[in-house]
Amino acid sequence: MKNLAYLNKYLWKYRGRLTMGIVFIVVGNVFNVYAPIVVGQGIDFLVEMLQINQLAQPTASIAVPPVLQYVSSLFGPTASIWQIPQAEVYGMSLRVALYLGLIYLGLFLLKGIFLFYQRQTIIVMSRRIEYDLKNEIYEKYQDLDSGFYKANRTGDMMNRISEDVNRVRMYLGPAIMYTINLVVLVVMCIAVMWGIDRELTLYTLMPLPFMMILIFYVSTVINRRTEQVQRQQSKLSTLVQETMAGIRVIKAFGKEKFYGDRFKSESDAYKALQLKLVKGDALFMPVITLLVGLSTILTIYIGAGKVMVGDISVGVIVQFVFYVNQLTWPFASVGWVTSLVQKAEAAQKRINAFLAVESRIQNSENAEVIIPREVTLSDVSFTYPESGIEALRNIHIQIPEGKNIAIVGATGSGKSSIAQLLLRMYDPTIGRVLSQSRDLREVDVHAWRVQIGFVPQDVFLFSDTIAHNIAFGLDDATQEAIEEAAKMAGIHEEIVRFENGYNTLLGERGINLSGGQKQRISIARALIKKPTFLILDDCLSAVDTATEDWILSQYQEKLKGTTIVSFAHRLSTIRHADYIYVLHHGEIAEQGTHQELLQIGGRYAAMHQQQLEKSPQG
Ligand SMILES: Nc1ncnc2c1ncn2[C@@H]1O[C@H](COP(=O)(O)OP(=O)(O)OP(=O)(O)O)[C@@H](O)[C@H]1O
Ligand SMILES: [Mg+2]
Repeated sequence: MKNLAYLNKYLWKYRGRLTMGIVFIVVGNVFNVYAPIVVGQGIDFLVEMLQINQLAQPTASIAVPPVLQYVSSLFGPTASIWQIPQAEVYGMSLRVALYLGLIYLGLFLLKGIFLFYQRQTIIVMSRRIEYDLKNEIYEKYQDLDSGFYKANRTGDMMNRISEDVNRVRMYLGPAIMYTINLVVLVVMCIAVMWGIDRELTLYTLMPLPFMMILIFYVSTVINRRTEQVQRQQSKLSTLVQETMAGIRVIKAFGKEKFYGDRFKSESDAYKALQLKLVKGDALFMPVITLLVGLSTILTIYIGAGKVMVGDISVGVIVQFVFYVNQLTWPFASVGWVTSLVQKAEAAQKRINAFLAVESRIQNSENAEVIIPREVTLSDVSFTYPESGIEALRNIHIQIPEGKNIAIVGATGSGKSSIAQLLLRMYDPTIGRVLSQSRDLREVDVHAWRVQIGFVPQDVFLFSDTIAHNIAFGLDDATQEAIEEAAKMAGIHEEIVRFENGYNTLLGERGINLSGGQKQRISIARALIKKPTFLILDDCLSAVDTATEDWILSQYQEKLKGTTIVSFAHRLSTIRHADYIYVLHHGEIAEQGTHQELLQIGGRYAAMHQQQLEKSPQG
């Protein structure tokens, strides 16, 4: 239970509701315990009437059932003995039975009302805590660095916020409610029974411990099998999901039968487990019925003996049988509640471990807001903390304000890693990233990122309209601003040719764009910010050279004053660069202007020569 202690702060927050809930449970159970008393007294009354009926005296004196005495005393003076003519005994019996029936019904109505409020307080409390906890986890997600996201699978993270929280909620709602209910009911029932006849109480309750043990055993089996079924089910759905996602590849490789067979075998395993579970479930009710029956028989057998010697009345036996039945369900649910608590404990343990993760990227206390205009990477080496891969070594790069700097290099040379450092998605392992002679670690990271225009290498578009995807970069973007950005990214013409223009839906419910179209929408998203600092990570790789040429000339014209860093392995992309760095295996191999680099006759010149031969346009 030590992990669940984390939730105590929430229970404290909603202590008012919790207390009310407990009060409702207690009051509701008072009616629960009282109802069998009414029945018992009714039976006793009828037995008395039967006896009187056989006496054949002119008038009969009848003891009024205490319940009825109590209720009628609420309305006025009350007799405890009725003197009635013998002829009226039959009619009187019926009337009393009716009154007692109404009282019994009234008690259950009241109990129902309190049950309603008991759920309204405790279950509602659990839903509120669920909401709070989800928000807490979500905030944590937003705060964590990108390294965390690489190290953890999306499915796991989704589970944390949905399934794990749900398990915790089952503890906060049903588990707490049933436990309190069980304790209150047991205490009350046993107190009442004990007050009537101790010996009979002991006999009646004797089978209960056995029932608990058996139920506990059966529940454990059921829980274990339920878990197996759930695990198999998630295996099955993962398989289906993967098959659906990769259906084009599967078909193209003719692997339908292979996947079909795999599905069948997983599905067979699932069926077998389900059948085993059904067997366990089927055992549950008979076990309970058996033991309740045993308890009932004992009560009647021992009770009857006591009635014979005049220790108790017949009504008491009936009352006790009612209590046995009332206690059955709460006891039967002990196994279920235990498993709820165990699951919640495991879930909360995972949640706690996650909440304890510290983001590697954090704002320092007096972080300054500065506008990104120029950046220097000063003797930077960088190793990915989550994998230990060294991506950059002794990098010194200067990106002066308003200049267009290019960084070229083969695949895997470390280009995207530099982009990550510029955005402060990571901090360098050695060295510093500086802007206006401040270390980025002292700069407000949120403000820094908001002002940078970043076009990532792998485009991500939301399942939303094109307009919203572009406007994502800027709060309250106007249609003009969106179109202007789209024009600069060289995609406007293509968008207006779609039937719904800018309102075209993308993604699962909408259309699919080509790789080059996606790239340019991603560029428009960065440009709409009118950033002072633009990072382009290989973002024209899927665009043909003519379109690329046109877009680049646009930048020359319209982005005057903007600092641009572009990463590429195609040299045509960087032809307008003021200064070029050549990256090789995470180190800077050469640097200079285009002309200078050609003169050096090293890697750059070789790349240039090679690409020139491939495409006549350069
Ligand atoms: N998140 C990551 N975790 C661990 N290692 C990484 C990560 N991202 C990149 N790397 C490694 O860092 C090195 C540099 O990768 P990077 O993505 O910076 O290259 P790149 O120049 O952008 O390549 P490309 O042109 O293919 O995009 C590679 O060895 C790569 O395996
Ligand atoms: Mg890259």
